[in-house]
Amino acid sequence: MTVAEVQRSSFLTRRIERIEVSATMAVAADAEKLRAAGADLVDLGPGEPHFPTPEHIKEAGIAAIRGNFTKYTAVGGTTELRDAIVQRHAADFGSGYTRDQCIASVGGKHALFNAVQVLVEHGDEVVIPVPYWVSFKDIVRYAGGEPVYVATDEGRDFALTTEMVERAITPRTKVILLNSPNNPSGAVMTPADLTAVLKLAHERGIYVISDECYVYLNHTGHKLSAGCVHDVKDRLIIIGSLSKTYAMTGWRLGYALAPAPIVSAMVKLQSQSTSNPTSIVQKAAVAALSGSQDCVRKMLEGYIVLRDQLVAGLRAIPGITCSAPNGAFYAYPNLSHYFGRGGMNCASDVARRLLHEAHVVVVPGEGFGTREHVRISYATSQETLARGLQRMREFFAAL
Ligand SMILES: Cc1ncc(COP(=O)(O)O)c(C=O)c1O
Repeated sequence: MTVAEVQRSSFLTRRIERIEVSATMAVAADAEKLRAAGADLVDLGPGEPHFPTPEHIKEAGIAAIRGNFTKYTAVGGTTELRDAIVQRHAADFGSGYTRDQCIASVGGKHALFNAVQVLVEHGDEVVIPVPYWVSFKDIVRYAGGEPVYVATDEGRDFALTTEMVERAITPRTKVILLNSPNNPSGAVMTPADLTAVLKLAHERGIYVISDECYVYLNHTGHKLSAGCVHDVKDRLIIIGSLSKTYAMTGWRLGYALAPAPIVSAMVKLQSQSTSNPTSIVQKAAVAALSGSQDCVRKMLEGYIVLRDQLVAGLRAIPGITCSAPNGAFYAYPNLSHYFGRGGMNCASDVARRLLHEAHVVVVPGEGFGTREHVRISYATSQETLARGLQRMREFFAAL
């Protein structure tokens, strides 16, 4: 049976028909074809650190294998790991979660998936600020929920305020999904805006899922978790991940911090799907969370240098505007100035031509909910960024 036949067939469930393959994958597939044909691409597409996993974390994983820590563990992670997660969070954000309010999962995406599955019922609305990470809407739809999109203020670096959120709330709103620092824009909510949205949601009996996978990649010098805000915790689910913080994307270790009954429901769901995250990865995660955090600081310093180089380079290209990315490792420039030139009318058109003519890989904004922007990752070397910027300058100058 061909892929097209499978897609047309009716034996697949409605819930799988409701979702799409990640938009970022289409770009990667196109780039792969060109690369296989011998093209020298500057790849600014990937959503992962270019740094290797720090040595002491790798060593802990190797020691776990050698020490035969290779059996099933508790579904939601070992006591040692859950303690390490809540202690790290308490040390960094003064949050005070307990072990039974913590579950370790197979990546932050898995923790988010579990949280949405246990909270969102058919017909429930989930407020999602735009631009959003590609998977949010599909995870919500898979659960039967309806995404309700909220525009943010690009002029103020994609700021999200209570007024914007409030307009989107209806009696069916079950969850508000926050993501600060944001993928794809790099936007970071101010403490005042974050606190106000959390308090608004709490007053209205709405849950907040705060995706904090980039919480340690905050360039403002003041990293901020929703867990810092008091008196809202009974409606708050924090999603964390070791992927970006410790350059561990392939290891697959994320977590959620939430009220114990929500964590129990997530553990129940996880017990019927993946069971525990990989045992040896849990040992590596303990080393990451409990060891020296110097590696995190060093990587953050590196990202800030790269961010400044990319943003300055983009802003120097006539017609391109770029909001300030204050966290994560992406810039999200607005390219609409060039729409109408050379047959380009949306971000996908620009990304396609950048790929095929300039051999620069970027991710078009459509997958993130906007059609004027592309996402450019600066998790790469300064040389690669310089080459990418040079090619983009020449591409846009020739239009
Ligand atoms: C906003 C956001 N949340 C969650 C994730 C999931 O990361 P992981 O599953 O690797 O922990 C990502 C990864 O790109 C992300 O950008």
